[in-house]
Amino acid sequence: MVIIQGHPDPAGGHLCHALADAYAHGAEQAGHAVTRVDVAALAFPLLRTKQDFETGRLPDALRPAQVAIGAADHLCIVYPLWLGTLPAILKAFLEQVFRPGFAFSMNARAWRRPLKGKSARIVVTMGMPVLIYRWYFGAHGLKSLERSILGFCGIGPCRESLFGMVEAASAGKRARWIEAMRKFGAAAR
Ligand SMILES: Cc1cc2nc3c(=O)[nH]c(=O)nc-3n(C[C@H](O)[C@H](O)[C@H](O)COP(=O)(O)O)c2cc1C
Repeated sequence: MVIIQGHPDPAGGHLCHALADAYAHGAEQAGHAVTRVDVAALAFPLLRTKQDFETGRLPDALRPAQVAIGAADHLCIVYPLWLGTLPAILKAFLEQVFRPGFAFSMNARAWRRPLKGKSARIVVTMGMPVLIYRWYFGAHGLKSLERSILGFCGIGPCRESLFGMVEAASAGKRARWIEAMRKFGAAAR
């Protein structure tokens, strides 16, 4: 399994990091081999052209992450909701790593999806209540990750753990969330 930490702050210490740690802990206790990718700690440029996407060289700093994703049977992607969707650094990481050839390939005759068969859990923290994100805002950012990126590459099923009103959460509530993540990690599939 690979856990992709999408929080943009390389200093760590946020709820996203505690949730990812708990997931890793639960998974390791259950016997899973866990690889961690901390996107904020990787120095890589923005992808700027279709040509680079299709035929450019993957930045060296991203090679271990791409290898880990290729080898994993399960992906856990953790991020804070920023402007309704993934933080830009996580989107930039996915644009770089999920290149044609590695994540999918298409020509007039065939559509290949080499990552097909991997499952995923998407973990999102947010300031607003989860119900508001889902029902008022339509959770479009989440759906875009699930359908247009992961689903497009054949990754699924995608399970979701959304945590709302995180800034107002009591210590007890955070502890319950962390315990839930430990259990999800232990039962990851
Ligand atoms: C740039 C920025 C944009 C944000 N946009 C949203 C948003 O669209 N909706 C929301 O509910 N919370 C939003 N938030 C609040 C974050 O989701 C919240 O601070 C984060 O989930 C806390 O998790 P953390 O402790 O792991 O950083 C935003 C925060 C920042 C810094």
